[in-house]
Parts: sequence; C-alpha cells; structure tokens
Amino acid sequence: MAMNAKEEIDKLTSELKVYQDKYYKEGISLVSDSEYDRLSDRLSMLEKEHPELMHPDSPTLRVGSDLTNDFPEIRHTIPVLSLDKAYSDEAVLDFFSKSIDKEGGLLSFAAEEKIDGISMVLYYEGGLLVRAVTRGNGEIGNDVTANIMTIHTVPLKLSEPVDIAVRGEVFIRKADFEHFNESESDDAKKAANPRNLTAGAVRRQKSSEARLVPMDIFCYEGFWSNKDETPPDHISILSTLKKLGFQINPHLSFFADTKADAEEKLKAAGLEGDAYAFSEIDEYIKRKTAERASLPYEIDGLVFKINELDVREHFGYTEHHPRWAIAYKFESPQAEAKLLGITVQVGRTGRITPVAEITATKLGGSTIKRATLHNQEYINELELAIGDTVSISKRGDVIPAVEAVIEKNNDGNTTYKLPDSCPCCGSRIVQIGGLQYCQNYDCPDQVKGRISFFASSDQMDIEGLGPKTVAVLYDAGILKSIPDIYSADFSKAIGLPGIGEKSIKALENGIKESKDRPFATVLSSLGIAEIGKKGAEMLIAGGFDDIDKLIAAAKDGSIEPFVSIAGIGETTAENIISAFRSSELLTMIEALRSSGLKLDASLDKQEKSEERIFEGQVWCITGSFRSFNPRSKALKEIEKRGGRTVSSVTSRTTHLLSGEGGGSKRADAERLGVKIVGEDEFLSLIGKKDAAAGPADGQLLLF
Ligand code: IVH
Repeated sequence: MAMNAKEEIDKLTSELKVYQDKYYKEGISLVSDSEYDRLSDRLSMLEKEHPELMHPDSPTLRVGSDLTNDFPEIRHTIPVLSLDKAYSDEAVLDFFSKSIDKEGGLLSFAAEEKIDGISMVLYYEGGLLVRAVTRGNGEIGNDVTANIMTIHTVPLKLSEPVDIAVRGEVFIRKADFEHFNESESDDAKKAANPRNLTAGAVRRQKSSEARLVPMDIFCYEGFWSNKDETPPDHISILSTLKKLGFQINPHLSFFADTKADAEEKLKAAGLEGDAYAFSEIDEYIKRKTAERASLPYEIDGLVFKINELDVREHFGYTEHHPRWAIAYKFESPQAEAKLLGITVQVGRTGRITPVAEITATKLGGSTIKRATLHNQEYINELELAIGDTVSISKRGDVIPAVEAVIEKNNDGNTTYKLPDSCPCCGSRIVQIGGLQYCQNYDCPDQVKGRISFFASSDQMDIEGLGPKTVAVLYDAGILKSIPDIYSADFSKAIGLPGIGEKSIKALENGIKESKDRPFATVLSSLGIAEIGKKGAEMLIAGGFDDIDKLIAAAKDGSIEPFVSIAGIGETTAENIISAFRSSELLTMIEALRSSGLKLDASLDKQEKSEERIFEGQVWCITGSFRSFNPRSKALKEIEKRGGRTVSSVTSRTTHLLSGEGGGSKRADAERLGVKIVGEDEFLSLIGKKDAAAGPADGQLLLF
C-alpha cells in the first residue's frame, strides 16, 4: 500500500536523522552519498508541498537555502556580557580569595577553556530552536538562525520541551580551517585565522553556503525561563545541557578547597573533569598554557567561574561583566614595527590621546597601522621617540598598543613630547591627574565628539549621523551643537562630500525617531562625566525622574539627595552637581526641551504600558518600505510592542509585513494563510499613519 504524504515525511525525517547523527557524531556513513541526497531531496520536495507536515527539527533545515539572509536585529532576553580579565596566576588566585572572603564561606570554581570563536546565544522554546542570535552589543544582536542551523552540533530539538537560552562559542577546528582554506584558490579570499573564517560564515548571505564551512559549537551557560528548572550550580547546568543534547567542551577542570572535594563535586554532577585544590592554580595554568598549541581548536585564555548559582546571584554584575567570573588571558601575540609619527587626538571630553602611526604590520590576523599610546606618562615610561622600532600587542586582543622600544632610532630623535597647545583649537593643554586636556569647551574636535557621542548607536541612536557626517556638517557650519540636531536645515548639506538627498532624508527620519527615546537615554547621551547608562537609570530609580528635579537639586547644592542613592558616592554627587550648574549644560537642556525631547521619565512609562499590541504574535517582513529604512526599524517597532520577529515565514508565523517588491515570503504567507499587512495598515496599527503619509504618495495601499 502506498504511503500518504504524512507517513512518508515522518519516515524520511527519522531515517535521515539517523544517517546525519551517525555521520556527524560518529563519522560513520550508513548510506552512499547519492542515496542520501536522493532521500533528502525527496523530503524537501514533500515539505514544500505540505509545509504544515514539516517537522520543526527537520534534517533538511541543516542543508540551508539560497534565500538571502537579512539578519534582523533581535533584543536578547538574557544579559549577554563579556568577562573581566586577569593576566597572571596571582590575579586569578586573588579573584578566588576575594570571592571566598566576600561570601564568607567555601566556594568552588569551574575552569574552562576560553574558546576563540564567535559568541552565540541559542534560544529554545518548548525544546525547539527558535533563533540563534549573535552577541551584538550585548543587548541587541543579529538573527543568524538559518546559518547556525547548518551546524550539526547545534540541536534543533532538545530531549526535553524546555524554554531555555544557551550561550556558546561557534568555532572552527584548526585542521578543518587549514583544509577549508586550502580549497580556496583565490588568495585574497583566504581567511587569516579560524576565528575570522567563523565570523564570515556566521554572516554568510546564503545558508546553503554557510553549511559548507565546517563550524562547530561548545555551549557553556544555560538560562532557563522557568527559574524552578534551573540546576543549583554550574557543573549541574553543564551536565543538564549535555543531557538536553548540547555539545559541552570535555576539557573541564574544577577547583575546590581540596582536590578530594573537587573530585567529589564533579562526580556528583556526573561529569568528567580534572580536579584541583585552589593552591594548584599555577600548576593548572602552566599545564593549560603548554597544552594550548596542541589543542585541536584555538583558545585565547581560561575562564574561571563561581560554581554556586545562589552566590553568583548575590555577586551580581557590573555594567560590562559578571562579578562571579574572570578570564585569564594568554599573553597576546606581539609584532615589531617602526614608529613613523605620532598624531594627537582630542576626544569629546577634551582628553588628549597620542596615537602611534606605525609601519603596516600583521598582528593576530589583521593589518594594523595605528596603536594607542595612552598619554604622555606612558610615552615617557617607554622613552619613545619617532623612528624607534617598537613591539606592538593587541591588548585584550582588540586595541593594539605599543608595548616596548626594541631598538632606538639613529636619527637623533629624543623622547616625544606632546604639544603645549591643542592641535585642533590651539588653546593651552592642561595636566589633570597624569592626563592631558584641552579645556576649551568650544574646541571643534570636542564639539564634534560630543555630537557624535550623543548620536551614537549606544545613545540616541540617530541613523545617518556617524562621526564622519558630523564632521562634514560641522565644518560646513550646519551643525554646531547638540541642539542644532533638532533645528538645523539639513537640506543645505546636499552636495557636501558623501551627502546626497537620500542620506539627508534618512538623517531627518533618524532625528525624528530619536525624539521618542526615553528620558534615561537622553540623560546618558548628554555626556556628563558621571552619568552613563547605569548612572542615568540609578538616578531615575532614585527619584530624579525629571530633569528639573536634577537641576533643582544641583542648584540647592547639597550632596545628600544624591549620596542617599545606592551606588552614588560623594565625588560622583559633586560632579553631577557641578555639571547641572554649568551654563553650557543648562542652555543645552532648554534647547532640547523646546525641541520636544523627553526630559521626564513619566512620559516614557505611559507609552510603554499602552503599547504591547503585538504580544503573542510572530511577524516576518519582506520588501522595502517608505517609512522604515533600513528595514530593521520596522522590526524594532514590532518588538517594542511585544511582538516576535523571525526571518522566514513558517507555519508559526502569524503576520507578514509586506512592503514594495516582496518576493517568495509573500507567496509562502499566502500559501500558509499568514495574515499579510501592508505598510499603511501597519502604520495605522502603530499609530503613525499621519506622520508618514507624505504628499507625494498619498495613495493608500489597503490589504
Ligand atoms: S562565559 C556571563 N565561558 O569569551 C559569562 N565565555 O569575554 C559569559 N568565551 O563573550 C561568558 N569560551 O564569547 C564563557 N567557556 C567560556 C567561554 C567564553 C569563550 C567567550 C564568550 C564571551 C567572551 C568573554
């Protein structure tokens, strides 16, 4: 008897899964390649005909597709932080002992390899992989699900139907990297190292191409939506992740008061690993350092994490990293270069930073021409002169720095001295606490820096107003201050270098949108020394929920109302008071107030509570839009209102936002009965219809 479609899909699905598992996990081929391809093609075809019968963890998802990925921006539901760093055994031991002192009891620590790859967060709902998101800025990353699904060690379906977010590192093994690079005939396209190849693969436009890159993953942290399901400590999390189907790095080490304690804990969690006493930390680091070169993948350090979860919760986080973990970094690679010259930069606070201009040098996979020199004191310590041969390293593997002079120059140059006057405005440079400052508030470089900071993506996030554009607009006399952003006539800028009609339209849109940013964002964007993101939130939570309250308290002059807020000390309070007394800041605030910016937190709260109109809905978008350029803006509007966004139309999608020229997604939506919403309907749903109906396109497209 012939099988019906459901039976055939079910059968092919389970058969292919067995073949894939055998092949990718054990290296065994149970069928010939051509037979495998035939079965896989047949399943794909049936799934296209009957999308409703497709399994959410179908093996065809591993194959990837030729559709173009658009990597929508997604807000993380867990904090995706990085780690504080240590560069010596002592620093790690210090972390152990300080943690133990602080907790006043015995703790244990897991030690893992710090995989040098790309950080990824895998989100599962009901045990199914719903999305894989890059780290991004820690709050918002890119949805790269289609590409990550091609990694066979990323489970599509877990052994239990849990809601969980899992952090892991996507990487490529050294041997796979060599092999892959050899097959690339175009030298220019060869990746410099496994990490770069991984980074590129994660963002390949087509998942059918990402599939060809031999990526792998190790998972190391799990966050359950239901707190009651969370295991009590890190090693039980690891063993649970393993049972759920994730790949865990087998090279685990564990530290406790005695080696026997450590052994016992590992055993209780059912994990294999090396047990150590705290006193053996130097031995452990030596051993791992020696082992590093022979590992099959690249690591750039070791990670030490407090094992007990209740203690982790108690220790909490700083703005950037957890207080319950530390990364020991292996010494960074160094390279030699010649110092050609030193340029002097003026930052938004007036701080003067010398920057070394060096001969182009390859280091850690990239070519560098500049490196930071921090300040005059640092130059003095190095006795650095132009023409010297220096060693360069990548500190924390990101910003290159000049580390030492290897050979002095033969040109008679002596230790470099910063100029006495600001290279930008000519005013005298002043020394404050070992650092150099230009104290002219109107110094063009400072003004440009302040405007760029205000508009940057971490602050007011004004589309189209990056540092280059700011400089061009400032030099043309169009944008001279932060408040000018909201009053300048930008049409005058059309025709300036790199600025066309389109970019001005995008800029104007970006500016208009930025007016909706909440008070906390406006406050931190002002660039007041002590008020960063956290500071702004602390002040607001502490009762300063309106800028006038800050101004009044500063006028009053008492530090009391400030220091009574946890986390604000006397110096910070004094600095805030003097900032809010300065005429420059007060003038700026008044100008921003008349432009309609939110200077009162109660205004943003109201908006939030009435807005969750897309709660429970799953939206996909296609085509281009008049009012949302780039398209990610439309995604933000959906997410702001509680909706989820996905990159492809599946049976679980509830709405398709369809713009001009949408392609296959529209056909998918029609076939699956997904509600299709046009731009105008969408604008009226979110209450922005009038704002967007431009005179030129008054015609409404109704769906
Ligand atoms: S734990 C909240 N464990 O290193 C703690 N990170 O600077 C999160 N990494 O962004 C990090 N191997 O991409 C942790 N075994 C490991 C890791 C690891 C590599 C990366 C990760 C993170 C960065 C920390």
